[in-house]
Order: sequence, then structure tokens, then C-alpha cells
Amino acid sequence: MSVTHSDHTTAAKRATFLRTELERHNRLYYIEAKPEISDRQFDELLRELQDIEARFPDLVTPDSPTQRVGGAPLEGFAQIRHAVPMMSLDNTYSEEELAAFYQRLVKGLGREHIDCTLEPKIDGVAVTIRYEDGLLKHAATRGDGQMGDDVTVNMKTVKTLPLRLPENVPQTFEVRGEVFMPKKGFAKMNDEREEAGEPRFANPRNATAGTLKQLDPRIVATRPLDVILYGVADAEEARVKSQHEVFALMKRAGLRTADHVWRCRSADDLVKAIRELDEKRRSLPYETDGAVIKVDSFDDQRELGVTSKAPRWAIAYKYQPEQAETKLLAVDIQVGRTGALTPVARLEPVFLSGSTVSNATLHNFEEIERKDIRVGDHVIIEKAGEVIPAVVSVNKDRRGGQEHRVHAPDKCPVCHAPVSRDEELVVIRCPNPRCPEQVKRRIEHFVHRGAMDIRGLGESVVAQLVDHKLVSDPADLYDLNELLLARLERQGAKSIDNLLNAIAGSKTQPPWRLVFGLGILHVGASSARTLLEHFSSIDKLAEASVEDLTQCPDIGGTVAPSIHGWFRDAHNQELLARLKAAGLTFAQRETELASDKLAGTTWVITGTLSRPRDEIADRIRANGGKVSGSVSAKTTYLLAGEEAGSKLDKAAKLGVQVIDEAAFNAMLG
Ligand code: IVH
Repeated sequence: MSVTHSDHTTAAKRATFLRTELERHNRLYYIEAKPEISDRQFDELLRELQDIEARFPDLVTPDSPTQRVGGAPLEGFAQIRHAVPMMSLDNTYSEEELAAFYQRLVKGLGREHIDCTLEPKIDGVAVTIRYEDGLLKHAATRGDGQMGDDVTVNMKTVKTLPLRLPENVPQTFEVRGEVFMPKKGFAKMNDEREEAGEPRFANPRNATAGTLKQLDPRIVATRPLDVILYGVADAEEARVKSQHEVFALMKRAGLRTADHVWRCRSADDLVKAIRELDEKRRSLPYETDGAVIKVDSFDDQRELGVTSKAPRWAIAYKYQPEQAETKLLAVDIQVGRTGALTPVARLEPVFLSGSTVSNATLHNFEEIERKDIRVGDHVIIEKAGEVIPAVVSVNKDRRGGQEHRVHAPDKCPVCHAPVSRDEELVVIRCPNPRCPEQVKRRIEHFVHRGAMDIRGLGESVVAQLVDHKLVSDPADLYDLNELLLARLERQGAKSIDNLLNAIAGSKTQPPWRLVFGLGILHVGASSARTLLEHFSSIDKLAEASVEDLTQCPDIGGTVAPSIHGWFRDAHNQELLARLKAAGLTFAQRETELASDKLAGTTWVITGTLSRPRDEIADRIRANGGKVSGSVSAKTTYLLAGEEAGSKLDKAAKLGVQVIDEAAFNAMLG
């Protein structure tokens, strides 16, 4: 079959369209928790693109979603058929509906009192985990209930999940539970993503779903996943007769269960427990969106049976997410470090879930349009746990005709440069690297505590330095002097002196802080540390090829090209040269060695130890050893504390010697 010129042209156009669409849907699903199409429709689009690329290989681009880890979520995972289907639950939203559920149980079983359990409904992703002969055999997501993704390697990175069962429990059975991200871990991870110039996840559940679909378990291992187990697939196999026996079995097996479980035997008990859980759930370390009520006895459960999609013996009770209505006063546009233009809602202050809210996120301009949000509208805002409040909808009944629409800007509101649309993320950006707002964000990042830690350079001083054209990049900070600083407002001689000292003092900061401070896309503080440990100087790092970079532990296929590209840019090269000339530290300082007892050894630290890991890592370095983030053939020792997880497995596979803290202390005498 001959391929005509116009075939190719049509295919090229279609491929471009599909790529943009797929990336947009990826973002809606993972980042914004607002999917517009089903997984199946997504797969169809992806398959169409794959077909085009197979017919016209020259149309494959390196950034095509078909080439991207996580871009083809369901293509990369083997499928596991559930021996026992994974059902979902019917929902109730009021105490009356809950009482009606209890009445159905009473009627179905013909008894007045039915023992039930009530436990938190954890807002994560359902998993099933099979143990055989005492060992974790596989783990799978729910999928369509009959078949799910094989996420064994990813689940093995979850430290609280035992890889081997103790001997006092059945050795072959399947447990079911919810994978989630703890509130604190989620917040920290999102902060780190922001610092590395990556988009924040919208909520812990989406972050969890996205992480489980990661094809690179090295990335999964850096995410704070955890799991709580609440059931078994086959009661006979697990040798349990009731839900309360399930909880007892889990405890014996070392499987984590919910922090609170109630046993109830009337509708009143259930209502009381629901209210108690509501009091407690805010202080739980994970997000909960309700309660799950289950008939305790498995005999009773069998008698009640199931419908086509949900059991009759269980129900979910959903709490109302906390919402408030307030007036949208304005929509401001924030310019980020990478130029991303984000709309922010300015609100009439309103009290919600324990604090006064006057700003909320609007995610992006598409969303403003889709929800038809107008300035002057009364909007409903919602706060889910720790997450920043979001505008969820408009109360259109209160519109008076004075409201006005918000349009996506076609110019940067600060420097007036025509905006560009980032194809990958469909983010509207100011493309002007000299835009004063971008410059301010970059300087703020450079000087902040986690990076160069220059005290006295808060947001307002940075703003003045940039507005007075005294600073347009980090190297300019080192050219400042008393005369120049005297132009700033509200800066006395003493504070100018302090500021200059702090700037000069930062020249001796270790080079990883400088690399982090430069704000290279995807390079967070911990990657910067690893890079400098590996390459020992910024000069060597600057020369590294993409391949050299991927040799470095924890640096994968997304980060390496980003670093490589940054150091190839002429402006960046000039910036580095100026920073070097200013006397900043480019080479890792040879630390004063306490001893060379660990010379030539490479260490990986895992599990819970008696001291923070950083401290132990410093001690290893001070004695001549190297520390790395992941176990590889190059690892000499794995120092394993309590509850060490997947790294132990990997070490065993590679024949890496594992030692405990006592042995480590003994080595150093
Ligand atoms: S029991 C037969 N217990 O909620 C139903 N589910 O809406 C088995 N969930 O798919 C589910 N916490 O992912 C159960 N304590 C809990 C739960 C829980 C969260 C999730 C689970 C399920 C969904 C149903």
C-alpha cells in the first residue's frame, strides 16, 4: 500500500491533536482530580495515537504520551484477575438513610439486634494483597472489580506492609485495604514538588492513584504511600468468621488496621459512632471521607447476600465535605517561577473548618470557564483536609447581573509579554524570563531557607531589589554594596550591613544548595544533594551527559534531560560563570574526616533508626564512606532499622550485606 503525502499530513495533524488531548486528560485526572473522560475513552485515544505512530514512525516525538512513564497507565501493567471480585459500596448521606439501612438488616435477618462494625472510610485507592506460603505474592488495584493492575513492585515500597507473615497466622490468604498518602507526607511531598518546579497534586487520593500507576518503582519509593487493611477476600482461607476476627487476624499478622473501630448493635449505636468518628477524624493522620458499616458475622453476611455491584451487608456513610458560601471579590493572576500564570480567588473572608479563608485556588482558566465563575458571584468553597480551599461551584440564584466574566489573559499581567501555552501541561505561561515577577520568584527561591538560606531577604526586600533594577538574577546579589542598598526604603545602616554579611556568608554554602537554588526543573533539595555527592563539583555536573546523569542514584529519565538542558543554555552558563567569579563554592568540600574506617564503602540507609537518617549519613561520610539513596550493585552495606521495606528485598537479590545499627556502631568503635 502506498502512502500518499496527504495521508501523512492528515496523520501528523491528528497525532498532534491526540498528544495535546491525552496530556490534558492526564493532567485533569492526576493533578486536578477532575477527569472529563473515562479510563476506557482515554485508552482509546492513546491506542489511536499508538496506531498512527506505528504506521508513521517518523511522527513519534520524544515527548509523546506513548513514550512517557505513566503516560500509558494501563498499558504498562500486567493484569491480575481477582479470585474473588472486588465490589464497591452503596452510599448513604444522612442519619435517616443509615437507620433505614439498619432496618433492612433487621428485616433481612429477622432479628432485632444485629452486630455491626463501623470503621473509618479511608480516602485512597483500593488494593488486594495476596500472601502465599507466608510471602507477599502479588498486589493489585481494583480495576473493573474483576481484573486490576498488578502493582506488586509498587506496593512493596510501602514500608508498613510486611513482605513475610509471622508464623502464627494462616500462610495463604488475601487481604484487602486502602492505599493512601498520610496528610503530613502528602503536604511535604507537594511542597517539595513545588520547590522543584513540578505541579502540586490536587489531593492525597489523586496523588496515591498517580503514584500507584507509576511504572518506575524508584519514583514510587520516594512517595509517602501507606496502607490500611480492612478485609479478606476469602474468609475460609483466612480462617475467620466475622469482621472483628478479621481485625484480630490483621493485628497478629502485623498488617496495619484503622485506628478506631466501633462495634454497634442498634441504629442508635451507629448514629452515635458516626458522630464520634466525625469528632476524631480530623486528627487522624490520613484523609477520611466517611465511615463503613459492615454486618459483623460472616454467616449473617452470606444470608444477606449481594446485589450486582455492592454487598447488602455493608454500606458507606459519607460526611458532608465542609463548605461555605462567600463572595468572589476578584481574580488575581499569580506569576510563578517558571512563568506559569495561575488564577487565585480573592474572597470576602469566611470561616471554614477552623480557619478564616480569604483566598482559594481556581486551578486554571479552563476551569473558570467550565464552571462559569464570575467576579461578584457568590461561590461555594470547600476544604478537604489539609488541602488549600478550592472554589467548587457558583450559587447562580444569587446573581444580580453585575457580575463579570474572567478571561484567560493573552498578555502577562506584569510584563505584558504575549502569553504562551505549554503544550504538555496546558498551562498559560509568561514566556519572558526577564519578567519582574518571575525574577522575584526565582530570587525568593534562591535565597530561601532550604536553598542558599540568606536571611533578611524576605519577599518585600526582594521585590524592592528587583523593582529598583538592582537585581535581575542570583549573581547580581553578590554585586550589591552599601551604596546600592541605600536606595531601598526602610533599610537602616544596620540592616544593610546584616544583609551584606548574610549574602557574603552564603558563598560558603555547600554546592548542592546552590544547585537547588538555581531552580532547575525537577531538581529538588534531595536530588541536588545526591547529584553533588555523585559528581563532587558543579563543574563536573555541568559537563555530564544525560547518560552520566542517569548513572546517578535517584536521577531518572525526566530529571536527567532537564539538568542537561539547563547547563547547555548560554544564559545559564554565563550566570554560573558569574557566580563562580563571585567566589561561591562549586566543589564539594572535603569534610574533615573523623576516620577513614569506611573509606571505599557505599551505604544505603533504610527503616527506622535511633537517630535521624541525615545524622547517620553525616557520620558515614565523616568516616570516609559514601551514602546513596537506592540499593544497587554498587552498594556495599544496607544499614537497616526497624520496619525496613523493599530495600531489604533488593539487597538480598543483589547480595548486598545488610547490617543493623548495633553492628554499624561496632564498626565505628
Ligand atoms: S469495605 C465489599 N472498608 O471504599 C466492599 N472499604 O466505596 C469492600 N474503603 O472500594 C469495601 N475504607 O476502596 C471498606 N474501611 C473500609 C474502607 C473501604 C475505604 C473504600 C474501598 C472501596 C470503597 C467503596
